[in-house]
Order: sequence, then structure tokens, then C-alpha cells
Amino acid sequence: GLPASVTIYEVGPRDGLQNEKTVVPAATKVEFIRRLEAAGLQTIETTSFVPAKWVPQMGDAEEVLAGLAASGGDATGRRRPALVPNERGLDRAEELGLEAIAIFGSATETFARKNLNRSVTEQYAMFEPVVKRALADGMWVRAYVSMCFGDPWEGPVPVDQVVEVAQRLMDLGCAELSLGDTIGVGTTGHVHRLLEALGHKGIGPDRIAVHFHDTYGQALANTLAALRDGVSVVDASTGGLGGCPYAKSATGNLATEDLVWALTGAGVETGVDLEQLVETSVWMAAQLGRPSPSNVVRALAG
Ligand code: HMG
Ligand code: MG
Repeated sequence: GLPASVTIYEVGPRDGLQNEKTVVPAATKVEFIRRLEAAGLQTIETTSFVPAKWVPQMGDAEEVLAGLAASGGDATGRRRPALVPNERGLDRAEELGLEAIAIFGSATETFARKNLNRSVTEQYAMFEPVVKRALADGMWVRAYVSMCFGDPWEGPVPVDQVVEVAQRLMDLGCAELSLGDTIGVGTTGHVHRLLEALGHKGIGPDRIAVHFHDTYGQALANTLAALRDGVSVVDASTGGLGGCPYAKSATGNLATEDLVWALTGAGVETGVDLEQLVETSVWMAAQLGRPSPSNVVRALAG
């Protein structure tokens, strides 16, 4: 069966906006995050501490975090992680007082090279000091693994290869593993096999989150399959925004509205107010100048 409640890890402000052609103003990002929090989302990935040269859309990380701090609000139970690839990124995050970060590894050589300018082996050397210091400083650390199902250059990715990378990153001491279907090619049986293989290596569903892009329209089905296997943290992006500038054929993430609609119907608690979320999604779509691709938004906001 499905869990009684699910934690939604909202990635719209980061995964969503990192892939927009236009750079959204920092003040709009702050407003987006504040609205998402008001709708009940307690965990929101806000930005990335990467070089602006690599991802110009995230070049305003400091401004966004400063804007959020200034706007205040009730912090009870709230988590605002940001992507951090290396020690320079961690310096920047710590300077702003962040309490949660996410490192992001690749299961494949080609994507490690394209996204991190490193080999798979070299990525561990980059992440190790980051995680060590972050944990010593009391931070919460998540580890993403990208290309868990397929890679646009290498094709299908063997389950054992993903498990190996996941284990290396979790051995650093990360609290949570997010399985990234970066290009949205996963299907339910594959999800089940990967979760089973991770479980055999001691990484159980209580430490796993799922991160599906919706290229083939399978993101919701895959998410429900993972929930039936015991996962209870789900990454989603309001408005179904998202994609990775370094991954050919990556499209948007599972839309948060679609997830909330499905879970609410199934009696699963999310703490999110769907009406307020849809309003936020419509507002953000207006900022971007195009309609939301989410089916639920189209149905409810029409
Ligand atoms: P590099 O060029 O090898 O880095 O990039 P470097 O260490 O050689 O440094 C080059 C320059 O950048 C230096 O400056 C550094 O100081 C500076 P210079 O000497 O030339 O003046 N620098 C920095 N500046 C600010 N912040 C930093 C930083 N680091 C170095 N943190 C690097 C290596 C990892 C930095 C680069 O490859 C990178 O940023 N990659 C990240 C790309 C990215 O953000 N991709 C999207 C996110 S991943 C994703 O979307 C997938 C996910 O959603 C899950 C899924 O869907 O699968 C998470
Ligand atoms: Mg992603």
C-alpha cells in the first residue's frame, strides 16, 4: 500500500528555474519560494552554489537567500537546501548560514564529465571534503545520483552501476539519497528493481527520495511505484518546470500539483493546500510568460 504521509521535496525554484531561457529576477524567485511555503511546502530547494559561468540562471544565489532571510516567516520544520558541488560552493552556503545542502553525483561517465567536469571517480574526491565539513558543521546533507535509469549518450544504465555510485556517496555520511531520472526514461519495473538492489546493500527506502523527470509521462506512475516500495520522500516541481542544461533531452520534473492531486485522492497526507499551490503555479507561469504544462493546473485553473 501507500504510506500515510509523504514529504514533498520541492525543486521548482532550482531544477525548474535553472533550465529557463530567461533569467528570472531574484525578487521573483523569493516571492515564488514564499508562496510555495505558504501553500504548505516545508522542504524547498532554493538555488545552486555553482559558478554563474556554468549555470547563469542560478548566478543570484546570494541575492535569493538574502531576500528569503529578509522576508522572515515561521521556520518551524522548514528546510531550504541548495545544491553544492564543491568546497567553494560550501563556503558560499555557509557564509549565508545554510543548514541543508545537496551534493549531486552522476551514475555515468559521460554525464559526470558534462555536468561536473570530472570522471565518476574524480567526483568522489570533490564531494568528500564537502560532506565531511558540512556534517562537522551540523548540516543536513542529501546526495543526488543522476542518470539512474538511462543516459542520453550511454543508453540504459545498469542497476549495479547506480548502486555502486549511490553507495559511495551514502558512505560519506549523507542523510538522504535522491534517485534522479534526469531524462525521464524510467518505468515502474525498473524503479522496483533499483530500489530492491539498493535495499540489498543496506540503503533502504527510509533514506531514499525519488526524482522523476516526465519526458515519457511516466513520472507519476514511477513515483507511485516507489511509494508502494516504501519510499516517502518525493521530489517535484511546481508547474512541472525543470530540466538540466547539461543533459540532452531532459524535460520538466513531475509537477507538484499533479502529485498533490494524486496523493490527496489516495488519502495520503502531504500538508499542501492544492488550491494555493495552483494559484502559485498560475502566478509563476505568468512571470515566465507561458501557461503551466500541468494537467491539474489546466483543469483547476481553467
Ligand atoms: P570546473 O570548471 O571544473 O571548476 O567546474 P574549477 O574548480 O576548475 O573552477 C573554475 C572556476 O570557477 C574558478 O574560478 C573557481 O573559483 C570557480 P576562476 O579561477 O576561473 O576565476 N568556482 C566557483 N565559483 C562559484 N561557486 C562555486 C565554484 N566552484 C568553482 N561553487 C563545477 C566544476 C563542479 C564547479 C562545475 O562543473 C559545476 O558547477 N557543475 C554544476 C552544473 C549544474 O549545476 N548542473 C545542474 C544541476 S544537476 C541537475 O540538475 C540534476 C538533478 O536535478 C538530479 C537529476 O535530475 O538527475 C540534481
Ligand atoms: Mg533534476
